[in-house]
Amino acid sequence: TNQSLPHDDSLDNSLALLREGYLFIENRVKRYESDIFEARVLGKNVICMRGEEAAEVFYDPEKFQRKGTAPKRVQETLFGKNAIQTMDGEAHLHRKLLFMSLLTPSNQQQLAKLTRVHWECALERWENAERIVLFEEAKNILTNVVCQWAGVPLADSEITDRANDFISMIYAFGKVGPEHWQGRRARNRAEVWIRGVIDNVRTGKLQSEKGTALYEMAFFKQPDGTQLDTQMAAVELINVLRPIVANATFITFAALALYQYRDEKEKLETGTSDDMERFIHEVRRFYPFGPFVGAKVRNDFTWNNFQFKKGTVVFLDMYGTNHDPRLWEKPNEFKPSRFKDWNGSLYNFIPHGGGDPAKGHRCPGEGVTLEVMKATLEFLVKRINYDIPNQDLNYSLDEMPTLPKSGFEMSNIRRR
Ligand code: HEM
Repeated sequence: TNQSLPHDDSLDNSLALLREGYLFIENRVKRYESDIFEARVLGKNVICMRGEEAAEVFYDPEKFQRKGTAPKRVQETLFGKNAIQTMDGEAHLHRKLLFMSLLTPSNQQQLAKLTRVHWECALERWENAERIVLFEEAKNILTNVVCQWAGVPLADSEITDRANDFISMIYAFGKVGPEHWQGRRARNRAEVWIRGVIDNVRTGKLQSEKGTALYEMAFFKQPDGTQLDTQMAAVELINVLRPIVANATFITFAALALYQYRDEKEKLETGTSDDMERFIHEVRRFYPFGPFVGAKVRNDFTWNNFQFKKGTVVFLDMYGTNHDPRLWEKPNEFKPSRFKDWNGSLYNFIPHGGGDPAKGHRCPGEGVTLEVMKATLEFLVKRINYDIPNQDLNYSLDEMPTLPKSGFEMSNIRRR
């Protein structure tokens, strides 16, 4: 072990990590009064750290690599095997450009527009429904939206099953037992499905339009000029589809925030687009989604007198950094106006990771998330009125990922 670091004496913290969830790192940061400490997780020494400076170090590609970091349980549910999340160097940057080229501002607008259209369609159904569950509606709508946008054929009868599989993949990585295995089966089904679609595009059985995510993934050329094999192309196309559906989680938390902080909702009713944006930023800062991100030390280095030995796994606490009291005044208060003073740093507000997405592993989908959320928030605030029936809106910080238990039920929905 690293003598200069406080370390957790437990034989292994894997269970504590699952039990304490989002607060695992923060609890120990408080206990050791140190933003960096060492623990044993899944039989390995792991350095855990949080904060803006820690994020800056973590996103230095000279210091860290991803190869060999993501455990099987994560690759076989959330990411897919050998996907972009596990790549390094030039090969990573080359593949990342493909993702960036699919998630441009104009494509963000297109996705937002489709999202708006689908919420309006849903409203016709909702007006006659006794109650709806927002999370369920959002995951189905976003699955429909993303497939339409990407050029992936999807029959109406398939929507719910495909949506459930995307959600299962996302909700499996931090779980043990049935929920975890459900995620693995969901991934297998999705990969079979998307491999078939890619094959059909490559053989000309299915027409695909240049510029769509489907076409660009199917015909993407690696630096050596070869195409991705069908499996890899499917994994990476799923890496575009699934996380857009993941916005269902933030949408549910946004609705919860509208309910929990009524005065903020009232401000939005007459507010500007900037107010909407600040509210969404605060939802992404305040509520738990991505807990932490992992990488391996690439070469020995020393930082703040701590030694980082080649091959050591390091966790950067995203949730903890977003609640770091040195960065956020009263971090456990929901206050969108705090973003009026935000300095825009690439390392202090990191629900999607840190750094420049084109140069490292930060999420390329932050712009899409913002635009899809904005379209949705406008709809929830300005287009409809609704009641919130009695339900269990609690969410647990010791499950990763988490969600309000009821999924946010709404009733008596009517147009404004
Ligand atoms: C990576 C969060 C939405 C595509 C990531 C990472 C985080 C994250 C934390 C890892 C950063 C790292 O490894 O250092 C989120 C959250 C989202 C979201 C909270 C909200 C729903 C999206 C969307 C897309 C997307 C909408 C695309 C359509 C990706 C891809 C990566 C990634 C491809 C891998 C990037 C790489 O390894 O270079 N995301 N994301 N995400 N995200 Fe997102």
